[in-house]
Amino acid sequence: MSFRQTHLLGIEPLQTTEITTLLDLADRYADDNRRGRTQRNELAGLTMINMFFENSTRTQASFEIAGRRMGADVMSMAMQASSIRKGETLIDTAMTLNAMRPDILVVRHPHSGAVDLLAQKVNCAVLNAGDGRHEHPTQALLDALTIRRAKGRLHRLSIAICGDIAHSRVARSNIMLLGKMENRIRLIAPPTLMPSGVQDLGCEVFDDMERGLQDVDVVMMLRLQKERMDGGFIPSEREYYHRYGLDAQKLAFAKEDAIVMHPGPMNRGVEIDGTIADDINRSVIQTQVEMGVAVRMAALDLLARNLRAARGAAALEANGGVMA
Ligand code: NCD
Repeated sequence: MSFRQTHLLGIEPLQTTEITTLLDLADRYADDNRRGRTQRNELAGLTMINMFFENSTRTQASFEIAGRRMGADVMSMAMQASSIRKGETLIDTAMTLNAMRPDILVVRHPHSGAVDLLAQKVNCAVLNAGDGRHEHPTQALLDALTIRRAKGRLHRLSIAICGDIAHSRVARSNIMLLGKMENRIRLIAPPTLMPSGVQDLGCEVFDDMERGLQDVDVVMMLRLQKERMDGGFIPSEREYYHRYGLDAQKLAFAKEDAIVMHPGPMNRGVEIDGTIADDINRSVIQTQVEMGVAVRMAALDLLARNLRAARGAAALEANGGVMA
């Protein structure tokens, strides 16, 4: 099996073979889920804790369902955004949790790098469910699986990522994954919402939708991350929709069979026209949600295998190399 990670902290450290291994397994789980075969026991006996320091509906629910389908004992802790403090508090929380001996921690945090830091302090598998504007690996993986199932491949596609790229961990993780898989990536955003250093990302950069969407296979829209803005990034939502919101007129520049994606939650009439979001011939937004569960099942499965193998090896060593 070619998946060597002990944590899933981002797309950056993954090799393409690891991505493919995970997507292949998730593909099987997606088919099983569709057939109603949803009860498995690969994670039986393992305790999984969800710690979301930032609000979430779909990602938290998706991880919870994935964990339960794999047979884990799943617990979601209510972490109020108001109680977040940086540094010591996070480490203290981690140490407290670690003392309860969980096997898997799923963590979302508003600060970039917080989940990596936490992973260094605990001895269980950690999955990043989104850290600040840094990474959101399972989102990029579920997007990749959705694209692969819709287009029949995950390479040599022309993919436009549009909107608030500067504040988006979804965009960062997708740029890395889709780049590793040798796709042509176009970034479309007003200059105020382009990240600094964008020229080093290996993407084509556009500030207008008509030119940027020309002949693309995939249109990936992003939410305006208002909670990460301190004002002044867009003139008004109306103006933003006019120039960057995906409507039928702009979508007409993409390939005729281009698919439309959005990670949710959507602001209808701001980033995307509601009719397009609901158009089952173009929009794969519901499929993204569906693939999310399958991708998280696969990620949990692969990490649990590595966790059990590492513990087995440690136990063997403690036993002087003799099998217990
Ligand atoms: C994304 C996130 O939280 O980064 N949403 C999600 O995971 N469902 C995108 C977003 O919030 O805009």
